[in-house]
Amino acid sequence: MDNRCCVILAAGDGKRMNSANPKVLMEVLFEPMLGWVLDSVKEAGIADKNVGVITGSSTDKVAKFLKTKGRYRSFVQTERKGTGHAVIQAQTMLADFGEKGGDVLVLNGDAPFMNAGTINAAYALHKEQDSDVTVITANVVPAGNYGRIKRDKNSALLSGIVEMKDCTPDELMITEVNSGAYWFKAERLLWALPQLSDNNKSGEFYLTDTVELLGKKASTYMADDSIIVLGANDRRQLRALNDMMTEVINNRHYIAGADIIGHNVIIGKDVKIGRDTLLMPNTIIRGGTEIGSGCVIGPNTQIDNCKIGDNVTLNCVQAFDSSIGNNVKAGPYVHIRPGTKLHDNVKIGDFVEIKNSEIGTGTALAHLTYIGDSDVGSNVNFGCGTVTANYDGLEKYRTVIGDNAFIGCNTNLIAPVEIGANATTAAGSTIGEYVPPGALAIERGQVNIKENWYKNELRLLNKDKK
Ligand code: UD1
Ligand code: CA
Repeated sequence: MDNRCCVILAAGDGKRMNSANPKVLMEVLFEPMLGWVLDSVKEAGIADKNVGVITGSSTDKVAKFLKTKGRYRSFVQTERKGTGHAVIQAQTMLADFGEKGGDVLVLNGDAPFMNAGTINAAYALHKEQDSDVTVITANVVPAGNYGRIKRDKNSALLSGIVEMKDCTPDELMITEVNSGAYWFKAERLLWALPQLSDNNKSGEFYLTDTVELLGKKASTYMADDSIIVLGANDRRQLRALNDMMTEVINNRHYIAGADIIGHNVIIGKDVKIGRDTLLMPNTIIRGGTEIGSGCVIGPNTQIDNCKIGDNVTLNCVQAFDSSIGNNVKAGPYVHIRPGTKLHDNVKIGDFVEIKNSEIGTGTALAHLTYIGDSDVGSNVNFGCGTVTANYDGLEKYRTVIGDNAFIGCNTNLIAPVEIGANATTAAGSTIGEYVPPGALAIERGQVNIKENWYKNELRLLNKDKK
């Protein structure tokens, strides 16, 4: 369906957000509002190259964001003269689609709940009725600042849209509102746009005035759920959108078979969670994270962009850009930094940090350990307080540990270094050279014993006196 293009209005600056960023980049569940809109358009089947974003305030920032999402077009609106004026900026694209009898979807860049289902259902109706414009409407009580849908008294056909500021008291009572999303025949939109006037309370060229111009060929599609109209003008409204989106996303996971108990579980839009996985309070899961089934995640856990297998327990874990196999147990107080790969059955106890390392199947790091830039085999046991010294102040080096090695408590491994399979390091050793397979490496000073140490005797005597 290459006959469809889309214009997204994103030139507003959103002063009431009081932010260094433009409004459309304000985030709902870690994704800019514009990103939600772009993803819905993509899901509706409209190709990136046929989507034009109208930018104005902070054009550079918006352009930079667009690059991260796909190969979109953008058009700069240098002055904010209203939604009708904004759409005209994309006239070259509109003319291309007008010539081939195509249609254009116009959306607000700050309405993150607009979804592909609504977009395509409205398109189907638009084609069926052969309309010049199909306005996506919703029933909202109270109707707030939204533009009101006016209908002919007798025929009930759409007769126009009146902005709240321009409403008569009677019109204010109308609860069917304009979502700010429309399907137009591209050629008819191009015909109507130059006829708009700015003779209204705001002194702007209203896109909504095209409806009256297109007369009989204008119709409506009412969305099933009025949530699609919601946007945010200030931080309080943004907070409300976050709460509502959390509800929407969590519901999706309930349906897919996950459990969430208690509060403050926040899940990003693209996260996938398997069946019978339980999420506990104060847990944030974001980025492209995928979690398998039967896991227990949280409490107090943050996971960003990780692949996690089945039956994994993460309690009070911070994990970033890493992969975690099946049956892994980690926590409490564990930091898994980018580039880490934990194979199946790895066990990680409290106060352990792992960075840019591969840890083999069944290996245990039970307490107080730092493993950085390391390749560790399977069934290795790390004693409490093992440290890889991976950085000499200039360069980083790797540590390699073979299968079944036993690393004694408080071992320092000075990289680059290799410990062979089945080798042992004695507790308290600092190891900076190759340890062959099966060997024991001990690095310890001689113990020097002084009998009847007088200082301690003095201390004990003083204690008795007090
Ligand atoms: C608009 C509609 C209103 C509808 C509401 C739904 C008009 C005149 N009114 O009102 O009927 O109920 O959306 O949310 O269209 N923008 C530009 N350039 C401009 C002006 C706006 O790009 O010159 C962008 C804004 O960034 C925003 C969108 O267009 O993303 C809507 O503009 P806004 O000023 O918020 O319109 P509303 O008053 O909300
Ligand atoms: Ca708005």
